[in-house]
Amino acid sequence: MSDTRKERIVTIDGPSGVGKSTISRRIAASLSFTYLDTGAMYRAVGLKLKEARVDLDDADAVLDCLNATSLKLLPARAGSDGVGVLLDGRDVSQEIRSPEMSMIASATSALPAVREKLTLMQQEIGIEGKIVAEGRDTGTVVFPGAAWKFYLDAAPGIRMQRRAEQLRSQGKQVDEDELLAMTVKRDHDDQSRSIAPLCKAVDAHVIDTSLLSIDEVTEAMLALIT
Ligand code: DC
Repeated sequence: MSDTRKERIVTIDGPSGVGKSTISRRIAASLSFTYLDTGAMYRAVGLKLKEARVDLDDADAVLDCLNATSLKLLPARAGSDGVGVLLDGRDVSQEIRSPEMSMIASATSALPAVREKLTLMQQEIGIEGKIVAEGRDTGTVVFPGAAWKFYLDAAPGIRMQRRAEQLRSQGKQVDEDELLAMTVKRDHDDQSRSIAPLCKAVDAHVIDTSLLSIDEVTEAMLALIT
């Protein structure tokens, strides 16, 4: 890890189902960095706005709700799939992972007040460096000075299949056509929103994970970091 001019931060962006979470956790463990799951933050805020029945077109109501929200990320527990998330002191780690919450998080993430608040929180978490940040805009907006940036991609059908397997392994029923339609819609919405859309940072390494295993992608990335 020789680049001392830039922040000791790894950013990993890309659409859903490219393997970002597993790979980010592995890279963080391998470097002894902290894993920052920014998507979990958008999911939690989406859940809060939904439960509080806030009209997303009412900017003042959104802001009031955000100001009355406490959000904490806890390190992933051994054997669990993701970070722990405490929303107003309540553990919502599982609840935020449903396909419905994916769509709600995507809609919520287009709101300026939400992006502003969560981007600041993420930058505070990363202030000391030694972070692996995963999301949609971590290399472009949250940590533009990061030393190592990656953009992972894969064909939509392959990403849908990976998500379907994950849901089935949790004992859930999957309608593949519906899941593919949701994947394509979420890609489109995340890429076309006006603030901090999903896009490749110009200085990011781009890796297509369609035909690669998690191990292969992780190794290729670590070789570029160390
Ligand atoms: O990574 P994920 O599937 O948990 O993210 C859920 C949604 O949150 C995603 O569809 C868009 C939004 N998001 C975002 O806008 N910016 C990020 N840095 C991370 C997630």
